[in-house]
Amino acid sequence: MSELKTIEVPDIGDVGEVEVIEVLVKENQKIDVDDSLITVESDKASMEIPAPSAGTVSSILVKNGDKVSTGSAIVMLTVDETSSVSEPAAPAPKAAAEANAVATAAPTTSADTYDVVVIGAGPGGYTAAFRAADLGLKVALIERYDSLGGVCLNVGCIPSKALLHTAAVIEEAKHLEQQGVSFGKPQIDINKLRTFKESVIGQLTDGLKGLAKQRKVDVFTGVANFHSSNTINIESQSGSELLSFKNAIIASGSQSVKIPGFPYDDKRMLDSTGALELDDIPDKLLIIGGGIIGLEMGCVYAGLGSKITVVELSEQLMPGCDADLLKPLQQKLNKQFEAIFTGAKVTKVEATASTLTAHFEGGKAPATADFDKVLMAVGRTPNGNSINAEAAGVDVDERGFISVDKQQRTNIEHIFAIGDVVGQPMLAHKATHEGKVAAEVCAGKKSFFDARTIPSVAYTEPEVSWMGLTETQAAKDGIEYEKASFPWAASGRNLSMGSKSGLTKILFDPESKQILGAGIVGTNAGELIAEAVLALEMGADIEDLALTIHPHPTLSETLNFAAEVAEGTVTDIYIPKRRKS
Ligand code: FAD
Ligand code: NAI
Repeated sequence: MSELKTIEVPDIGDVGEVEVIEVLVKENQKIDVDDSLITVESDKASMEIPAPSAGTVSSILVKNGDKVSTGSAIVMLTVDETSSVSEPAAPAPKAAAEANAVATAAPTTSADTYDVVVIGAGPGGYTAAFRAADLGLKVALIERYDSLGGVCLNVGCIPSKALLHTAAVIEEAKHLEQQGVSFGKPQIDINKLRTFKESVIGQLTDGLKGLAKQRKVDVFTGVANFHSSNTINIESQSGSELLSFKNAIIASGSQSVKIPGFPYDDKRMLDSTGALELDDIPDKLLIIGGGIIGLEMGCVYAGLGSKITVVELSEQLMPGCDADLLKPLQQKLNKQFEAIFTGAKVTKVEATASTLTAHFEGGKAPATADFDKVLMAVGRTPNGNSINAEAAGVDVDERGFISVDKQQRTNIEHIFAIGDVVGQPMLAHKATHEGKVAAEVCAGKKSFFDARTIPSVAYTEPEVSWMGLTETQAAKDGIEYEKASFPWAASGRNLSMGSKSGLTKILFDPESKQILGAGIVGTNAGELIAEAVLALEMGADIEDLALTIHPHPTLSETLNFAAEVAEGTVTDIYIPKRRKS
């Protein structure tokens, strides 16, 4: 016997009406007790409504965008008389509900063999775990911290971009004075800003726990160490547990480099994680390392009002970035920062109660200068040595990197590695793509990592992006190329945004005219580069880009115009030599 039951929203407290943002079941789908039916969102949190009973979904009574509250009907469920209907539990906000999910991940003994265990829940690890589960594999995801998402979501890409956005808006507001609009000095409530940043992180990391649960990925919180080539040990507060696996994917990421001999115990010495905590806004901040982290965090703190000094060992900021792309950024930073010393280094930092005194060597740096805080941003080092890889026979090099082939396999055939731990570039979008390849290979697919390029973006103000061949690399490798550039001083959209600087350039093969690389500096350069990446992947040539109609007036046109420069058909600027009849 079966019975048709109406499933309603249980008591969700005093949040009133909430919006349905996702319907998680389909008609005729068989579901278990506690399976999530819909996700709803209030202005405070999102939460999933679980099924109070197992059964078959007969009809769905809500859709995305509907407003519901306690007692609203959600689905009609055909319930088998043998399956007991439990009292509908009030859904906890995701943060709490999913912390539960972690704590209650089915206790697994070595008798329970996973198809795949994934070590590390950063962008590489969670992507690999979710893809493997979607391909029908039994997956365990092991993360030492409570929060999923790794460096990227918790202390990297996402919090830095949340703060960079704030800093960019402050800068833009200042800039509007030139157009006759003044806002006055910004009043910064640092606690509120920190809360905003934390809320962005929370939304994403809580979302990941929900996604893991929906896919039935078992999440374990603890430190993973290989025990053998088919078993892994997890150490947590509640003891240790041994899992056996058919395949493992190492996604243990990287950590900040620490130059030895600096007073790291002093809490005024920061790494990127410390800088993103946003404890206060130091009056004078020294940044050691003029790479991507150094410049992005410099833009954040300069926007918030700090006086920034950058010291960079190389002769140019962001070594490896082409000089013409760097120029507009350098000009902006020269004005915005207190000082930039290239070809220089810090040899010592002395901490006293009132200040941190840095000793410099090289370039135009002074002998010493005093600062309130110091940020060390001189690169990241892989976490290859933190997983007892030797117990599984996996080779780790002296720097902590793990070598892999195009299918992400290590020297041990059923053990894979992805993300920062396998090498440069240490970027989230590289990690996620590698994660998918590894998961698919575990599922028996013939997948390979064969991207023609991995784009780079510095989310500075202005942004700088590049992909494919750079002029710096071409010079090093003796590669022949032709270049076509379009200056943004001739872009109507750029001028109408109050900016005169910016550049889009394309490098192409002199014979075939195929696109080899591209670089952009200016507003939204990070978004704009994606078109060039697609062009490279599709084997497009200059004519393809030049004949593709781009909307006007947009910054995306600048890629079209640069291609027209190469073709000699451009009319928005005058280039005597290249005109084509
Ligand atoms: P990670 O994100 O490092 O994750 C590895 C995870 O493994 C961690 O959660 C760690 O706790 C866990 N782990 C390690 N060892 C163990 C163990 N033994 N047991 C259990 N768990 C373990 N990249 C971009 O593409 N764009 C950006 O804008 C960007 N901004 C960044 C800003 C900052 C400040 C920083 C520091 C980095 C930024 N990155 C950015 C780089 C990006 O964060 C990394 O490339 C990316 O996080 C790498 O992903 P992953 O999965 O390899 O490793
Ligand atoms: P980085 O390698 O980009 O830059 C480090 C800089 O420090 C280099 O310019 C180097 O020459 C300099 N340096 C090294 N030793 C020094 C010394 N003793 N004194 C002064 N300068 C010194 O590394 P960074 O900025 O720490 O970032 C690490 C990685 O994180 C990046 O390579 C990137 O993979 C990732 N990342 C990516 C972002 C993005 O995609 N937007 C943002 C932030 C980080």
